[in-house]
Amino acid sequence: MRKKGTFEGDVYYPSNDVINQANVREFDKLYQMSIENRDGFWAEQANELEWYKKWDKVLDDSKKPFYKWFTGAKTNIVQNAIDRHLKTWRRNKIAIIWEGEPGDFRTFSYHALNREVCKFSNVLKSMGVRKGEIVTIYMPQIPELVIAMLACAKIGAAHSVVYGGFSVEALAERIEDANSKVLITADGGFRRGKPTNLKGIANEAIKRSPTIEVCICVKRTGEECFMENDRDFWYHDLMGLPIANAKCDTEVMDAEDMLFILYTSGTTGRPKGQVHTHGGYGVFTSTTHRMVFDIKDDDRWWCAADPGWITGHSYIVYGPLINGTTIMMYEGAPNHPYPNRWWQMIEKYGITVLYTSPTAIRGLMRFGDAWPARHDISSLRLLGSVGEPINPEAWKWYYKVIGNEKCPIMDTWWQTETGGFMITPLPITPLKPGSATKPFFGNEVAVVDDKGKEVATGEEGILVIKNPWPGMARTIYGDEKLFVDTYWKDFKKQGWYKTGDSARIDKDGYVWVIGRIDDVIKVSGYRLGTAEIESALVSHPDVSEAAAIALPHELKGNAIHSYVILIAGKAGSKELAEELKTHVANEMGPIAKPEDVIFTDSLPKTRSGKIMRRVLKARALGQDEGDLSTLED
Ligand code: PRX
Repeated sequence: MRKKGTFEGDVYYPSNDVINQANVREFDKLYQMSIENRDGFWAEQANELEWYKKWDKVLDDSKKPFYKWFTGAKTNIVQNAIDRHLKTWRRNKIAIIWEGEPGDFRTFSYHALNREVCKFSNVLKSMGVRKGEIVTIYMPQIPELVIAMLACAKIGAAHSVVYGGFSVEALAERIEDANSKVLITADGGFRRGKPTNLKGIANEAIKRSPTIEVCICVKRTGEECFMENDRDFWYHDLMGLPIANAKCDTEVMDAEDMLFILYTSGTTGRPKGQVHTHGGYGVFTSTTHRMVFDIKDDDRWWCAADPGWITGHSYIVYGPLINGTTIMMYEGAPNHPYPNRWWQMIEKYGITVLYTSPTAIRGLMRFGDAWPARHDISSLRLLGSVGEPINPEAWKWYYKVIGNEKCPIMDTWWQTETGGFMITPLPITPLKPGSATKPFFGNEVAVVDDKGKEVATGEEGILVIKNPWPGMARTIYGDEKLFVDTYWKDFKKQGWYKTGDSARIDKDGYVWVIGRIDDVIKVSGYRLGTAEIESALVSHPDVSEAAAIALPHELKGNAIHSYVILIAGKAGSKELAEELKTHVANEMGPIAKPEDVIFTDSLPKTRSGKIMRRVLKARALGQDEGDLSTLED
């Protein structure tokens, strides 16, 4: 509903219907309390969950920035995501509704999910997986992916899920960094009507990362694939063995024990394994999910992300399952076989909340209003967006055509590092298209210059978070120094977390995130590092140096443009440009495929040899190149 109010700009106010049924009906007072007594607020939320033993201390900040939450507590995220539901009527509630791209579907009650997780936990144990070790998972979006994640957690092993769209090099690097002995994969999945070849990629990656001793493979597509004797096992074979007993105790963990690592791209070359924990992460994801998406027991929640990214970890798997929610999962492309696929499934399954990305919205908007109009999608009551700033045009289309002007849009700003929502509206918040609105409970943010001084209202600056929160990444796996240097060094004096984003805050205190200020590129909401793309380019025998930048793209938000210096004696050509694009896609995955490859003789560099990507970008956009005093030549 739109009406005149006291806020500045284009504002959408929630209807009384929305306000009257909201889980949280008053923001300001609770926010104030959560800031004045942060520990108290989070203790109250943690009390909503079950613990084997409660905490001695809510927050231990004695070793900043290595904060610890709920120290002394004993739990396991599975205790809350599954076990406790089995003691209630939710035992028979649907936990997962899954639809494959070809149209096959499966459902699991919490009882059934528990059975599968227990069985697979016992399989993993029999394969020698021990508490504390890291299992790599590389799968399409099928229920076994969720089962595998939960089974690892249940037995106290950590998982490292590698997005199924990544390719050989990206997978190999992540397996090696995590030192995984076990890889769980599938023969493939379906995407746009075609089977993908995951096992083929996994086989190549295993050759490059020799730590793998066992590879468990789910049969999804039935396509031929190579299985190595004594190393590779079919999931269904193992699950049929007596060892796959349907009873398995949940391992008792410390709240601060590692639940998973998830690799994310940053400024430095190697992807960084963000470490998340059983206790604080569980409290944070379930609280944010329940409050922001106003979760009720009769909801059917669809987070249309891939579990291979943090959005899927936090809001397909852990947050929703802890809240006992029915979750929807879909394997394939949104527009396959027709652009009504999503709307058809919303109608078919009665989805009540849809959470997706601006890229997906823009992509579906392109096909026009007639496709959603063919379906009854009136079951929707709330919408969500994540991954990049949403342009007001897409926001308005989503609001009007999908939400029928009755569903508030929760534009949630957060990161792999934050574990869950940091800046976000609640259903009761007046909305401004393109703004993630205000910090969530317990959070204080600021927009500052590089000295840490707050910039004036409406001015652009660096977005920082001033406080610790339970879902925060505890470290970068195996590299504490990089963790400190990346996030905590620049504002050490103040003790603030540097997000890597730029933003501005308007007169009403609304945060407008602008984009990354480092060498991270968001393509279709997916996070990639320029360094990874450049090293993929340089791994081609004809390339001597490379630079990658992001330029605006109507659908993807950003697209990758690359500049390449060839080795002496090689000449650039259209064919070679195509070959290099394909090479990057083969090494990294299709999402990293550059939009174009430009051959050049030199790259703008600082005297210390760092490529000045902002100069390349300014040139490509015909903008002012800014301060060139550090340019070498
Ligand atoms: O630049 C911000 C953008 O995504 C980055 C984090 O990417 P990743 O770790 O892959 O996590 C994505 C899913 C949480 C941020 O630094 N971003 C995320 N959500 C928003 C956003 N930018 C603007 N608005 C958002 N709602």
